[in-house]
Amino acid sequence: MDKTSLTDTRARHLKYLRISVTDRCNLRCSYCMPRDLIPKLTHADILTYEEILRVVRIGIRLGITKVRVTGGEPLIRKGIFDFLKALGALEGLQDVSLTTNGVTLEKHLDQIQAAGIRRLNISLDTLDRARFKRITGRDSFDQVWRGLQRAYAMDFKPLKINVVALPGLNEDELEKMAALTFEYPFHVRFIEHMPIGKNNVATTGRLLTPEIKRRIETLGVLVPVQPGLTDGPAERFQIEGARGEVGFISALSRHFCENCNRLRLTAGGQLRPCLLSDRQVDLKTDLRNQVSDDQVAERIMAAVRIKQARHGLTDEIPKKVCGQMSSIGG
Ligand code: 5AD
Ligand code: SF4
Repeated sequence: MDKTSLTDTRARHLKYLRISVTDRCNLRCSYCMPRDLIPKLTHADILTYEEILRVVRIGIRLGITKVRVTGGEPLIRKGIFDFLKALGALEGLQDVSLTTNGVTLEKHLDQIQAAGIRRLNISLDTLDRARFKRITGRDSFDQVWRGLQRAYAMDFKPLKINVVALPGLNEDELEKMAALTFEYPFHVRFIEHMPIGKNNVATTGRLLTPEIKRRIETLGVLVPVQPGLTDGPAERFQIEGARGEVGFISALSRHFCENCNRLRLTAGGQLRPCLLSDRQVDLKTDLRNQVSDDQVAERIMAAVRIKQARHGLTDEIPKKVCGQMSSIGG
C-alpha cells in the first residue's frame, strides 16, 4: 500500500476526493432536488467529522492529494469551520476547496479564510433575481451576489461560478454569465444538466456544450487554456480579451471518463467511484465496526476497483442515476 494504491484498472490515478458533508440544503434548485419533501438523512446516518477526517487521513496514505468539501450546502452543517480547519491542517493535502451555493457565504468568509481555504466554487445559474427564485425556490440572489463580491474583495482565487445550463430556464443568459469574465477574473463553468436522482427538470430538451459554446463564441474567440495537472473534466478557455476563464463540463456530449481522477464520499458514508453510477462501497459500516486503518484502506481500494470505464448516460438507452445529487455531492 503506497501513494499509488488508488490507480484503477484503466491506469487512472484517483487523487481527488470530494466529500459531501450533508445532504441538506437551504435552496431547492429545480435540477438538483424535488420541491416536495425528500427523506433526509438523520444525524446518525451521516458520517461524523471525525469519521470523515479518518477516511481522508487514510486516503492521503493511498495517494489522495486534493479534497473538495461539498453538499448539499456544506456551510449549514454545524461545526463546519472547525472541520475545515482540521482538514486544512492534515499533512499531505495540496489542496482543500469548497463548493457552496453562496447563500450564507458573506458572513462566513472570514472563518473560511482562517481555515486556510482559498479556492471557492459558487453555484449560480442566473444573474436575475426573480429567475434565481424560480430556479432555486428561494429569493436569495442578493445574498449570493454579496457573498461573491466579498469573496472577490478578499482575494479568494480562483473563484469559480458553476452554471448548470437549463433549457428554457437560463439558456438566454449564458452569454451574460460568460461576459462576467470580462469584468472579473472569475472562472465561469457551464455544466450540462445530468439526470441524477429525483428533480423537477424534464431531461428531454437538452442544452449541450457545442450549443453553449456556439452562443458564447459570439462574445469573442475562445482561446484554449493550458490544462493544469490536477484539472478535472472541464475544458478551459479564455474569451479573447477577458480577465477570467470559461469552462465546459460535458458529461453528456463528451465522454471525459478517461481522465477522471475522482472519488466521492457521500454524506451517508458511501464511497462512490463515479458520480454517474450507483455502484458504491459502504465505508460507514466499517468505520462504525471498529475496523483497522488497513481494513478501511482495503475498502477504499475496493471502491477504486469497481470504478467503471465510462458512465452510461450517453448510451442509446441512458442509465438513470438514482442517488440524490445533494447527498452524493456535485
Ligand atoms: N446536473 C448538473 N449539475 C448539477 N449540480 C447539481 N445537480 C446537478 C445536475 N443534476 C451542480 C450544482 C453545483 C454543483 C455542486 O453541482 O449546480 O454547482
Ligand atoms: Fe442546494 Fe446545490 Fe442542490 Fe441547489 S444544487 S439545491 S444549492 S445542493
